Amino acid sequence: MHLARFPRRHYTEGRTPLEPLPRLSAALGGPEIWIKRDDLTGLAAGGNKTRKLEFLVADALQRGSDLLITVGAPQSNHCRLTLAAAAKEGLRCRLLIEERVPGTYHDDAVGNALLFDLMGVDGVEVVPAGTDLAAKMGEMADAARAEGFDPYVIPGGGSNALGSLGYAACAEEALQQSFEMDLAWDHWVCASGSGGTHAGLLAGLHAANAGIPLTGISVRAERAAQETKIANLAREVLTLGGARADLPDAASVVRDDQVGPGYSLPTEAMGEAVRLFAREEAILLDPVYTGKTAAGLIAMVRDGSLKAGERVLFVHTGGSPALHAYPEQVRA
Ligand SMILES: Cc1ncc(COP(=O)(O)O)c(C=O)c1O
Repeated sequence: MHLARFPRRHYTEGRTPLEPLPRLSAALGGPEIWIKRDDLTGLAAGGNKTRKLEFLVADALQRGSDLLITVGAPQSNHCRLTLAAAAKEGLRCRLLIEERVPGTYHDDAVGNALLFDLMGVDGVEVVPAGTDLAAKMGEMADAARAEGFDPYVIPGGGSNALGSLGYAACAEEALQQSFEMDLAWDHWVCASGSGGTHAGLLAGLHAANAGIPLTGISVRAERAAQETKIANLAREVLTLGGARADLPDAASVVRDDQVGPGYSLPTEAMGEAVRLFAREEAILLDPVYTGKTAAGLIAMVRDGSLKAGERVLFVHTGGSPALHAYPEQVRA
């Protein structure tokens, strides 16, 4: 894809590391596991939203906007990073918080919620799960316009086609690193939430004709619905990027066996994964996204979907600030 045609801000110095995880691979006794360190992107504490915001904030600036509005859960990494981008660009930022689990938003909370406050959020509105979030952000934008602002609304997770270009760029970056390091892949694994990461990677791999299977580990939605959503978004990304949008539905592969009781609610497998990555490789995961994604990877090793002799890439999407908000979920 010819991504340099799009306006873009640069928030990460160079490329994120692509590293082997030999101790984790040995502990699991299966394939050779590598990691793409997108927990080390730029902006406060890093994570996957930084790549999406490079395109989204550039678009906002080009349109002359002075206020970003977005939405996320009470411990949203996406809200933290949107606010960080706004602070860096001298823009204001207002957040809509969807209380997906009732009673979980506290304005004196630690983790990402503390960082909302530290980075000078311009306003937080809290609504219950099931609220029409797009409509509510539309109302917030109207109210901001009445105050004289020129708002720019970023959807949940930054997962529209423009934001997802960030993960098509990540796929290109990882393929280039793999070429330089003589690494051929049997499989990639990533988190699948609002979907921009999974769909962007899928689009990038498809446009490059890479032939690498990608599995998204759902953190919330049921498999069939998520697979359809990812396939459609990946095709939108391909079209926007100027590539052939002939991605077959079958390329969108989701596992939903790690969601457990629901979004952000702990599972034993998540706790085991968070501890294993920390103890064997000093890699910090989070309980809501990457802990469940790593649990999905471990389940794929144990059920034989990923085999000894294969090489697998785990795309680390960040989130470690949320660890500090859920200590009881990750202690043994
Ligand atoms: C740390 C982390 N990993 C993964 C995801 C999921 O990525 P996406 O929303 O692009 O599916 C998120 C989303 O908020 C996240 O914060």
